[in-house]
Formats: sequence, structure tokens, C-alpha cells
Amino acid sequence: RPRVLSGIQPTAGSFHLGNYLGAVRQWVALQETHDAFYMVVDLHAITVPQDPRELRANTRLAAAQLLAAGLDPDRCTLFVQSHVPEHAQLAWIMNCLTGFGEAGRMTQFKDKSAKQGAERASVGLFTYPILQVADILLYQAHEVPVGEDQRQHIELTRDLAERFNGRFGETFTVPEPYILKETAKIFDLQEPSAKMSKSASTPKGLINLLDEPKTTAKKVRGAVTDTDTVVRYDPAAKPGVSNLLTIYSTLTGAGIAELEEKYAGKGYGALKTDLSEVVVDFVTPFRERTQSYLDDPETLDSLLAKGAEKARAVAAETLSRTYERVGFLPAK
Ligand code: TYM
Repeated sequence: RPRVLSGIQPTAGSFHLGNYLGAVRQWVALQETHDAFYMVVDLHAITVPQDPRELRANTRLAAAQLLAAGLDPDRCTLFVQSHVPEHAQLAWIMNCLTGFGEAGRMTQFKDKSAKQGAERASVGLFTYPILQVADILLYQAHEVPVGEDQRQHIELTRDLAERFNGRFGETFTVPEPYILKETAKIFDLQEPSAKMSKSASTPKGLINLLDEPKTTAKKVRGAVTDTDTVVRYDPAAKPGVSNLLTIYSTLTGAGIAELEEKYAGKGYGALKTDLSEVVVDFVTPFRERTQSYLDDPETLDSLLAKGAEKARAVAAETLSRTYERVGFLPAK
């Protein structure tokens, strides 16, 4: 079976609809066909200041949401990044292989550091993509299921894998991004030119999966569309409507053409009302399932411990081969 690996940050608490449609939904599908490794990336979370208690709670919450979304610990390896020390160890080697200028070209660092003021951003935030490189290479992943905003990090991973292999001999699998065109970028409901994200300009544009379903329904009904009335998929001319159609189509399995036909002559109101129900029907059981996993933290923790053990077996093997290639003296 080909291998996939991906990760999600625990920082924000609730996942949003972009996380789910852009990434987690694919993770669930891929566990059926691939040898799948998925993790909650708590090491990445501390690149910006974190409250320790919140971080711990949000790490469990992220794992609970992944299970609620359909990850099955019997079909995939689900773990917490800091439980596998090899991530930080391989990241160091990758740091030493990356050019300063090369790291400086990562657009996510530019965006994120601009928000905090570049002077105050941590060095960890700067090297964040290099830790991600280590995450992927440790597992010899063939594919990495992510949203469009992670593409540049996968490119860096490919570059560093090839560089290492070229310099020290074949060691790492060079991974491919696994990005589904339709859902690669889910947009903000209020500002359909921007991707849906925690740092949205207004909370009204962001669908948090764990919000009160009533709040969520209201956000969908209040989504920004355009002054036309025709329900048609046309991302360039009609970004708001097209985003709603994408969400509708992926959550229900209905084709875009089918939806265009269904709403022909009906206008945006009907589309938004129906979509608000579709989204509520999705988030309601999702919240309940998440809560049921949280209600039993012992089971959750032991499941994560088992995941870490499986992950570590793979990671340790890659790391020891890497150490040898680099020329570190083996510890006797
Ligand atoms: P993170 O936690 O920001 O996001 C998790 C996943 O959600 C996707 N995503 C979106 N997809 C479509 N539309 C959107 N609006 C949207 N917003 C977020 C992201 O692309 C991502 O796939 N650096 C990563 C975490 C990471 C990782 C890794 C991923 C760490 N190590 C190794 C893959 C492999 C991140 O911050 O994702």
C-alpha cells in the first residue's frame, strides 16, 4: 500500500469547514486505500505563543475531532507529533540542509509573521516549514493530503528530499502533494476572495464545526453572494456562489450541474436556506461524536499512545538511517 501522511494544528480549538473539506475528508477516504499516518502537530502549534493548559486541551480536542470525522485507529495511525521525538531530531538535520534565503521565501511565514510584526516572530515560526519537511520524510510518505495553502511546503519537502538523496545517497521518498482541485481552497463566506481561515476578518465568514448549529445556519444564510441572481458555478465571476456550490456538492455528493439545475430560477435565498440545513445536518452529529470522545479521555489517550508507538517504529528506522548517512558516530 502506498503511504500517506498529514497533520493538523491543534491551536484553534474547533476545526473549520476549510480544514474538513480541504484535508480531513480526504484523510478519511485515504485510510481505506493507503497506509495512512495522521497527526496533531503540537510542535508546530508552539511557533506562536500558547497557553499550556489550552494547548493540552486543544490537542485532545483535535484528536477527538479527527475521530469524529471518521478516522479509525484500526485503519490508520493517529498520533500526537510531540510523542514521537524523531520529528524534532530530523528537523534539525533538515534545518542544516536548508538555505536561509530558501526558508525566507515561504509565503506562510511572511503572512504569519506580518501579523505579529516580523521582529517579534519566533525563529520557530521561521523554520516551521522545515519541521513539516521532517514530518513527511520520516514516514517515507508517497502522498500528502492537504489544502492548496500547503503546496509550497510540499515543494520544499521534495527539494530537500532530493538534495539529501543527492548528497548522501538514496534515503527519502520524494512525496507528491495530494490536493483535490474542487476543495483545495474553501473561501470565507463574507469575503469569498480570501481562504476560510481562523484569522478571518470577521467571524461571520468562518464556519467552525463545533459552533452551535444555529449560529452556523445563520452564517450560511448570511453568506455574501453577488448582485446577480443566477445560481451558476463560475469561480472567477461568482466566487461567493461558487464556494457555496462547492460546499453543497461535497457535503451531499450532488453534482454541481445537478445543483445548478435544481436552483434554476429560484435565486440565492433558496440555495442558502437549503445549504444551511445541509451544513447543520453535518455539524450536529459531528459535535456529538466529538463530545463523546472527549467524555472518555482515558480511552482517547491510550489510543493516541498506541498510535505514537506505531508511528515511532517507522520514524526511528528512518532517523537512524539518516544519522548514519550524515556521518554521526553510532552510540554504542
Ligand atoms: P493547518 O492546521 O493550518 O490546516 C490543516 C489542513 O487544512 C487545510 N486547510 C484548507 N483547505 C482548504 N480550504 C481552506 N480554507 C483551508 N484551510 C486550511 C490545510 O491546507 C491543511 O491541509 N502546516 C500544516 C500542518 C502540518 C502538516 C505536516 C501537513 C504539519 N506537518 C505534514 C501535512 C504534512 C498546517 O498548518 O495545517
